Amino acid sequence: MKAKLEEIRARVKEELSKADAIEKIEELRVKYAGKKGELTAILKQMGKLSPEERPVIGQMANEVRSYIEKEVEAKKAELVEAKLNKQLEEEKIDVTLPSDMSPLGHKHPLSVVLDEIKEIFVGMGFEIVEGPEVEYDYYNFEALNIPKDHPARDTQDTFYITDNIVLRTQTSPVQVRVMEKKKPPIRIISPGRVFRSDAVDATHSPLFHQIEGLVVDKDITFADLKGTLETFIKRLYGEDSVVRFRPHHFPFTEPSAEVDVQCFSCKGKGCRVCKNEGWIEILGCGMVHPKVLENCGIDPEEYSGFALGLGLERVAMRRYGVDDMRLFFENDTRFLSQF
Ligand code: DAH
Repeated sequence: MKAKLEEIRARVKEELSKADAIEKIEELRVKYAGKKGELTAILKQMGKLSPEERPVIGQMANEVRSYIEKEVEAKKAELVEAKLNKQLEEEKIDVTLPSDMSPLGHKHPLSVVLDEIKEIFVGMGFEIVEGPEVEYDYYNFEALNIPKDHPARDTQDTFYITDNIVLRTQTSPVQVRVMEKKKPPIRIISPGRVFRSDAVDATHSPLFHQIEGLVVDKDITFADLKGTLETFIKRLYGEDSVVRFRPHHFPFTEPSAEVDVQCFSCKGKGCRVCKNEGWIEILGCGMVHPKVLENCGIDPEEYSGFALGLGLERVAMRRYGVDDMRLFFENDTRFLSQF
């Protein structure tokens, strides 16, 4: 019996050293030390032993059992740890690696300036409306007092789709569409894209943006126009900006003016930003021509109005000191991320 116990101990040792999975070790424990295990089977035969032998063999059997249990636990712990170490090694994360997060986008500088302009006009009670980019010749020119043979057509190199359909060269046609539909009082601005067949350079692009403004009501005068524009420009460029109205000509307004703001870079002395003029032109405006009102079914004897047109790229260029308009359209993130 002694020899058998010794042999069991030796076999356990041998098999344990070969076991490489936790389940196998558990099987091993059951095989030797379980209720139906080999060790138990031996103990069951203890009755056959002499009274002197019994305690000796009993003690030895207990030793073998605790040996098995101890070794099984030790081997189990070893395997669990090995498994964990392997997992840790495989799932290792190098927290010092640079991240590959894609950069977050943000508002385009033109949108930043447009939002600001919208907010100023909305604050003065204006509504925002939109008009089509593909437009009838009638709305883009004819109704605005620019007939077919008018020289003003030459200054707006037009993309024609058909004889009477164009890509709008200005946002002014929205004035006509609004007046046809809505009776005064009217107070709207209309931002949008316009198109001209211009070659691309630092100050020209075949696609650019304008913001049209229109106010029509009883007793609207040039004083309303001046007040509105001065308020707008001071909000946009600061309370201390100086504004100048210069006589001009547009077919759809009479009288017409261009508005300059004193160069904020040199305060009127002349510098690179204002091309040594001391002033920067920012918009065209005037009192809506009676013919235009008539074309839209509004009685010029009863109503009057003013209109304005502003180039968004220009305003943004002045605002940020950008001297090449192409930068706004190239969408190079190194440029865009500066705003
Ligand atoms: N549509 C003109 C242009 O593109 C700008 C303009 C000038 C609009 C005077 C107006 C205005 O409404 O009153 O050059």
